[in-house]
Amino acid sequence: MVEVTDLTRRFGAFTAVDRVSFSVQRGEAFGLIGANGAGKSTVIRMLTTLLPITEGSGTVAGYDLVRQPEQVRRHIGYVPQLLSADGALTAWENLLLSARLYDIPRRQVRQRIEHALKSMDLMPFAHQLVQGFSGGMIRRLEIAQSMLHRPAILFMDESTVGLDPVARHAVLDHVGELRRDFGTTVLVTSHYMEEIDVLCDHLGVLSHGKLVAVGTPVELKAKVGPNATLDDVFAVLAGTDEDNATETYRNVRLSRRAASTHG
Ligand SMILES: Nc1ncnc2c1ncn2[C@@H]1O[C@H](COP(=O)(O)OP(=O)(O)OP(=O)(O)O)[C@@H](O)[C@H]1O
Ligand SMILES: [Mg+2]
Repeated sequence: MVEVTDLTRRFGAFTAVDRVSFSVQRGEAFGLIGANGAGKSTVIRMLTTLLPITEGSGTVAGYDLVRQPEQVRRHIGYVPQLLSADGALTAWENLLLSARLYDIPRRQVRQRIEHALKSMDLMPFAHQLVQGFSGGMIRRLEIAQSMLHRPAILFMDESTVGLDPVARHAVLDHVGELRRDFGTTVLVTSHYMEEIDVLCDHLGVLSHGKLVAVGTPVELKAKVGPNATLDDVFAVLAGTDEDNATETYRNVRLSRRAASTHG
């Protein structure tokens, strides 16, 4: 569903994303982790065709990012990092806008909107103004909007930021349902490692624009050390470039060995 090779984005002289290559299989949940400014949102904005690629190449849902951007857009859903629903409209009206945006056939619109509202538990609030919604309700509405056209792949950029634990779990549960019901592929970024651990089949670690590790959560934890958590993976890999990462491993191993020798 995603295949990128040497994906690069420069802003002037600054390289925000540096020769990143990875692939995401159909039906998979793929996580991108990395420190603030590592380049996660920039990768997502290139994969959603919102930002032109400086160098490299990629396909999303089988379509070329550079040559077939319209086809790409037709097959993806996107939940941006900042809240994007219109507060001056009701939930139903926001969904109606998305239905128009995604060219959903007129006779299907009502049924699609009802289904989306029901699956996100928002039916009782359909005709209320979004400005009165909580953050969790807005997120659920945005996921409903991004799924209205049944995209093959959903991009979610820090979609659970600022949500209380109950709302966060509700959003994650709904993403789980979309994967089960429609086989939707998802690509997420998050700073919540336990969330990535539960949701993602594979993840990539970005550091200063470079992809420094890719693997399953289990593989990456094993790489860092026995009983390592994803927080440890983040601490060892996300703040360093490739050369320093080797150094950090060595230090982690040395300090562990010292700790076990000295009791
Ligand atoms: N339009 C732009 N112009 C100039 N620099 C940019 C632009 N967009 C992003 N950058 C820079 O590119 C780098 C990567 O930014 P990006 O938003 O992709 O990081 P991120 O990993 O999503 O961080 P966060 O966790 O804070 O969301 C940052 O240094 C940022 O300042
Ligand atoms: Mg970001």
